[in-house]
Amino acid sequence: MNTISSLFNPSAVAVIGASHTPGKIGHSIVKNIIASGYRGGIYPVNPAGGEVCGLRCFKDMEAISDPVDVACTVVPARMVHDAVLACALKGVKYNLIITSGFSETGNIEEEKKLVRTARDHGMRIVGPNIFGLYSAEAYMDATFGTGNIKPGPVAIITQSGALGLAMIGKTGVESIGLSAIVSVGNKCDIDESDLLEYLVQQQRTKVILMYIEGIKQGERFIRSLKKSTRVKPVVVIKAGRSARGAAAAASHTGSLAGADEIVDAILKQCGALRADSIAEAFSWCTYLSNAPEPATEQTVIITNGGGVGVMATDACERYDIPLYNDSEALRDIFSPVTPSFGSTKNPIDITGGAAAPEYSQALDAALDHDRIGAAMALYCETAVFPAADLEKMLEDIHRRYTDLRRPVLFAAVGGEDIEHAIIRLRKKNVPVFNDVYQAVACMGKLFEHYRQKRSRCDTFEDCDIDTAAIDAITREARESGRSFLSARESRDIMRIVGIKMPASCVARSLDEALARCEEVGFPLVMKVVSPDIIHKSDAGGVVLDLHNRDEVIDAWQAIMQRCLAYLSSARIDGIELSAMIEPGVETIVGARRDPVLGPIAMFGQGGIYVEVMKDVSFRALPLNRLEILAMMKQTRSYPLLLGVRGEAKKRHRRSA
Ligand code: COA
Repeated sequence: MNTISSLFNPSAVAVIGASHTPGKIGHSIVKNIIASGYRGGIYPVNPAGGEVCGLRCFKDMEAISDPVDVACTVVPARMVHDAVLACALKGVKYNLIITSGFSETGNIEEEKKLVRTARDHGMRIVGPNIFGLYSAEAYMDATFGTGNIKPGPVAIITQSGALGLAMIGKTGVESIGLSAIVSVGNKCDIDESDLLEYLVQQQRTKVILMYIEGIKQGERFIRSLKKSTRVKPVVVIKAGRSARGAAAAASHTGSLAGADEIVDAILKQCGALRADSIAEAFSWCTYLSNAPEPATEQTVIITNGGGVGVMATDACERYDIPLYNDSEALRDIFSPVTPSFGSTKNPIDITGGAAAPEYSQALDAALDHDRIGAAMALYCETAVFPAADLEKMLEDIHRRYTDLRRPVLFAAVGGEDIEHAIIRLRKKNVPVFNDVYQAVACMGKLFEHYRQKRSRCDTFEDCDIDTAAIDAITREARESGRSFLSARESRDIMRIVGIKMPASCVARSLDEALARCEEVGFPLVMKVVSPDIIHKSDAGGVVLDLHNRDEVIDAWQAIMQRCLAYLSSARIDGIELSAMIEPGVETIVGARRDPVLGPIAMFGQGGIYVEVMKDVSFRALPLNRLEILAMMKQTRSYPLLLGVRGEAKKRHRRSA
């Protein structure tokens, strides 16, 4: 069992700063712990003694004779260190520091001091600057939220405390049950990875929702997230763009994407489901926490209205939901339950006259068919099928489908009666939505989760590359004050990794170029070699397709003239002569170490339009073959590599 378990299931809790005044944070926390039904020891601590919420108040930690696993610290910032020390000496395992006024306001040193003191005594800190923690496992609401949290299958880890408190309120409105909600605040010690690793193995948690603003230990987070999504769905709302990421994006590879685009790609690589809003995240979490794994993704849409059917079809395309389209089979299955003026083509239109029996029959017909894995029933409110009947029918169908482990969901669009029916059904965990797109998105995310689980492969092939020799080359460049490699150094690295390069040489003078051009072979390419000119074609420093010595002479003079006109101070070390290779598709491969996320790789369309087309994909390293292939397939230009319109498969040409 993960050692963090006593944070979620403590034997006793102390609240330091337990206030006698109702409405104060230190008072609300004690009140919530009692009200949530926590069965362990509750120890309010306040030097004034007396009672808080009917419990004896201890003057200090020493006065408590029993062991305490968790402390909530709710005293002003200047008193927090003493409280942390007192808890550490008492043997407290986890300290939830609610207090604000540390690194988030520039008080960094004081925060570091808290961590040092805690570590010296083996105590861990959550926070500071948090709202606390709710754990269904312990029936413990140690937050200053509004209380009445409904226990259930969704765990929330949030960096924003205020938003977390608001989410507690919203889970109540949306009838979402929580297994835990915890805010990480400044993450001075325990961070989202620690919590994720615990919650992912906790039985009662079926889905994890994370709200993240900034990532601190990116590489560790990526590892934890990859592991977690293999076990259960993780929905991530990632807001804000990191300033450090934006600065790093100024480098050549990074400039092809904002930091957020890279984060987005990595979240996907890790198998997380990224949501844009709380509403979206909540609906995915609700659905994913109850829906079974689909045996097949072939889906049918059953509707009483053409319009919603079309909308759902569009949404299916957007969310990658395959619609079952064997028209003969569809006709066989659905014509007994579809009027002649309806449609048995998927979406199945059972028409506006359909009521509960028609929906039930159509869904039963779908359910009986092995090749149909999931169903979505759409309903536009009509007089022939009132909301009361709808409610009962959806509940029955949902139960039947769930027993048979088939994913099903419903969208019902209509007036007040329908809205009320939806609220009541949601309370009973029936997946019904008042918006078609929202409903389809949930099914799409269910498929995406299981698809990534099935197809992801996190094992790596052995590779036998002399990395020490590569390190020596890059070290030498760095030691000579360069942040880029010369053509010769690049060539050496290519040789080490086994990538073929066309024959070439660098000529320092026109005479040398003429002496060596035959050895390179015609047709050839000439490219300027200058530490001051990185983008050679911009400076007119590249001439292609030279067939004889006269053309070499002309090209030499043209390159020299154009480059000096481009940058008169440019140091020109010579001109590289390379064998001209057959036309192909230029690709770019890049990598850099992101200060937060660690090593990142990039693949995409290369050539002079690379910055304009921005047709690139990103992944966190390390990568295996499967992921590299997925990365290539993700670019818009991937079909070019396979050959389009009868062209033969093209060879890749790397960009200079
Ligand atoms: N040990 C225990 N209790 C102590 C104490 C000590 N050494 N010294 C004082 N106290 C008591 C106080 O007497 C008071 O109790 P009382 O109301 O019965 O007199 C209680 O602790 C709280 O202290 P007080 O000075 O009244 O502070 P406060 O309640 O106004 O504010 C915080 C304390 C922690 C709430 C405040 O500093 C803070 O950080 N607020 C922001 C919290 C926040 O938003 N966090 C992020 C959430 S998302």
